[in-house]
Amino acid sequence: MKKIILDVDTGIDDALAISYAVHSPALEVLGITTTFGNITVEEATRNTVQILELLGYSQIPVYAGAKRPLFRELKEKAKLFHGENGLGNIELPPPQTPVQKQEASAFMIEQARRHPGKLTIVTVGSMTNLAKAIRDEPEMTALVERVVVMGGAVTVPGNRTPVAEANICADPEAAELVFQSGIPVTMVGLDVTMQTLLTREHLALWREKGTDVSRLFADMCEFYMNAYAQVGNVRGCGLHDPLAVGVVIDPTFVTAVPMHVSVDTSGGLSDARTIGDRRKHPAAAANVDVCLEVDHERFVEHFLQNVF
Ligand code: BDR
Ligand code: CA
Repeated sequence: MKKIILDVDTGIDDALAISYAVHSPALEVLGITTTFGNITVEEATRNTVQILELLGYSQIPVYAGAKRPLFRELKEKAKLFHGENGLGNIELPPPQTPVQKQEASAFMIEQARRHPGKLTIVTVGSMTNLAKAIRDEPEMTALVERVVVMGGAVTVPGNRTPVAEANICADPEAAELVFQSGIPVTMVGLDVTMQTLLTREHLALWREKGTDVSRLFADMCEFYMNAYAQVGNVRGCGLHDPLAVGVVIDPTFVTAVPMHVSVDTSGGLSDARTIGDRRKHPAAAANVDVCLEVDHERFVEHFLQNVF
């Protein structure tokens, strides 16, 4: 079993990723840490606890993290895609389980020290918590086995701006700090996540299944899908965050290419763009394994069979 910490800004696809991770026999979820992005960190924390309670996994500890980016102002919430409350405006019962007192980045450091070389951190929101952990404990780069990042885009357009993906946009300096830190990184960006789509046919199957969980997820994902349709993606919505979890469960879902990646933090037109050096003779050594291809049929099938 792989030991993981999942760092989320729960979010509809984050909720799917949580469900997929906690149900996987290949993973041991040591804890879930929260950050801002789709919504505020307070909302992400509440949603995470609510989702774990809905799934019957409230024993998994939740650690609240960063309230804002390292150096910038907090950006607007992603209301179009995730609704006012982050879960497509679907109301879940008020959370009962207390959140841990320890701060998210401190938990990451503690677990990395406890499981040297054996901890995978999966970030599916802003990368602020991990950046803080590396800043506070430079040994993180040697202690952590791998970081799997849902974020960025090297070969395809962005989704928050023409060139930048939402999780990198949320805190570009944090992403750049992590990428340049020397920690082993796998980047699961829009290059692959926009090929793994959840469709209306899948939602119909969840409704047919008829459990509380399958119905609530179908309702949330319908909201997400309608937002995708509004911006021209009529075939379905991207399984962004679940694919990052999928890559830990089975790395053969994707083909990753080592390359040098840096994040534009200039504040200009290309701000938050992830620039991969794809030249034959790159100027700098590879620092990120960038997923460029995905066996989308096999992944989506595995996700559907195992998500709840
Ligand atoms: C990413 O941004 C967020 O809206 C999603 O939850 C996902 O993590 C996709 O760009
Ligand atoms: Ca997310």
